[in-house]
Amino acid sequence: MIPSRFFPGGICYFFSEEKKDKSILSENEWMIVQKYGTKRLADFCTGRYCMRKCTEQLGFSGDILIGDRGMPLLPNHITASLSHSKNLCGAIAGDKDLFLSLGLDIETCGRVHKKMWYLLFTKNEIEYLNSLDDEQQDFISTVFFSLKEAFYKLQYPLTGIFLDFPEVEIVMINNRFYVKMLRHVTSLFAEGRLIQGSILKYYDQVITYCSLPVKTKFFNTGS
Ligand SMILES: CC(C)(COP(=O)(O)OP(=O)(O)OC[C@H]1O[C@@H](n2cnc3c(N)ncnc32)[C@H](O)[C@@H]1OP(=O)(O)O)[C@@H](O)C(=O)NCCC(=O)NCCS
Repeated sequence: MIPSRFFPGGICYFFSEEKKDKSILSENEWMIVQKYGTKRLADFCTGRYCMRKCTEQLGFSGDILIGDRGMPLLPNHITASLSHSKNLCGAIAGDKDLFLSLGLDIETCGRVHKKMWYLLFTKNEIEYLNSLDDEQQDFISTVFFSLKEAFYKLQYPLTGIFLDFPEVEIVMINNRFYVKMLRHVTSLFAEGRLIQGSILKYYDQVITYCSLPVKTKFFNTGS
């Protein structure tokens, strides 16, 4: 069970460790999955199931089709995000009166191998990871990776811009994690801006999310 205090009020969430099948899809969603293989199909169905459970709480139970570059297509008043890992699938959703955007990610701990770090992490992040023991490295590298993906899912529906992993950096301030913009994307995502992320270790999974409340007070580190 995901502790409810992990998500702030106004974010609806639903997680499932049980895979769902095509029977949960609407007719239009069914059309999308015609050529999906077994794993992709199970992920898609379970993801739609979780997201529908969230959006129903916000008064929407219609089709959730696929939009630009893979983002879930939702009615204008809802922001939502989903993620599937090997053992867990989940979704979060909120009303756009409260949140400009949300991004969720789930990763299995220990799968961000050291040989991939140079593609994913900045010099500062790698220096920090190298200062940790093996167990901490497995955990924190997964956290860094997952926060970047959660942030990507938050920012893409607002900007329509692809961002690569080294274009943002995870920084820790007073035991809190932030995604720091290393380039100027839009005025909302200006260089140096910090967007807070939250992390939860759930058995061997790492769950992360980023949220942009409408009333966000941004602060910058300077670039
Ligand atoms: C899109 C991406 C983040 C998805 O992450 P993933 O670990 O592969 O897969 P997850 O299961 O966690 O998430 C998949 C879900 O993300 C959502 N998603 C996909 N593309 C998206 C986008 N452009 N914007 C928002 N959400 C998106 C979808 O709902 C998808 O599930 P579905 O296809 O069943 O609907 C990843 O594949 C990717 O392209 N990453 C590169 C960009 C990046 O992460 N940059 C980091 C620095 S900002």
